[in-house]
Amino acid sequence: MNKDYYEIVKERILNQIDSEEYKKAYVGKEQGKVDRRHFLEVVHIVKELWTQQEKIPLPTALKIAALCHDSDRIYPTREVNTKDCPEELYEYRKGVHSGNTALILFENNLDLPRELIRDACYLILRHEKGGDRFKDYTLIETMDEFTNTYNLNRAADYLWWADKMSFFFSNIVEYANRGKEKLQSKILYSLEGLPSFAVQKISKKDYPPAIKESIDKVLQKLSEKHITR
Ligand SMILES: [Fe+2]
Repeated sequence: MNKDYYEIVKERILNQIDSEEYKKAYVGKEQGKVDRRHFLEVVHIVKELWTQQEKIPLPTALKIAALCHDSDRIYPTREVNTKDCPEELYEYRKGVHSGNTALILFENNLDLPRELIRDACYLILRHEKGGDRFKDYTLIETMDEFTNTYNLNRAADYLWWADKMSFFFSNIVEYANRGKEKLQSKILYSLEGLPSFAVQKISKKDYPPAIKESIDKVLQKLSEKHITR
């Protein structure tokens, strides 16, 4: 039954990606090439990480949130541009992007259980930052509404991690064309906050030598600073 809810949302998302509105706005641009792949890949990574670490099955709300976390950008009239904006506005824009995406999920799925969609919105709102924490960095306990079996803030971490990891699996080779400096700062941004089991998955993958070297360099820097946890 729960699996069907994910399938319903997935069909709606893929229909939008196949729509004339989407094609007109994005085909031929970089985005038109990556959206479908990125959405499905984040679902795949979240599933792998969760299954490896957690004892209960992957929550449907987390699967839906993983699929939809960036979906404002498949609606040309709703997308929030986080790419071409002044650095001081970047965090703010990311917040608006998350909020807009959650709102779209809610509006497009009014026929699905409210608790499920509210949980998925909670996760989407945190996909750029991870779960809510106390000052000592421990997670705040907020149980999900739909099944009452897991901490939403813990699940939000998985989505945050999977989204970051997706860069290493799909985008890194193309991104390397922007130059060494940009690549290293993107690697640093994408590794920060990841737990060691996720970093291990990234390290195990094969990369072209220059990229491997950049990843190793950043990992070395991070281990010196003890930023990874
Ligand atoms: Fe995002």
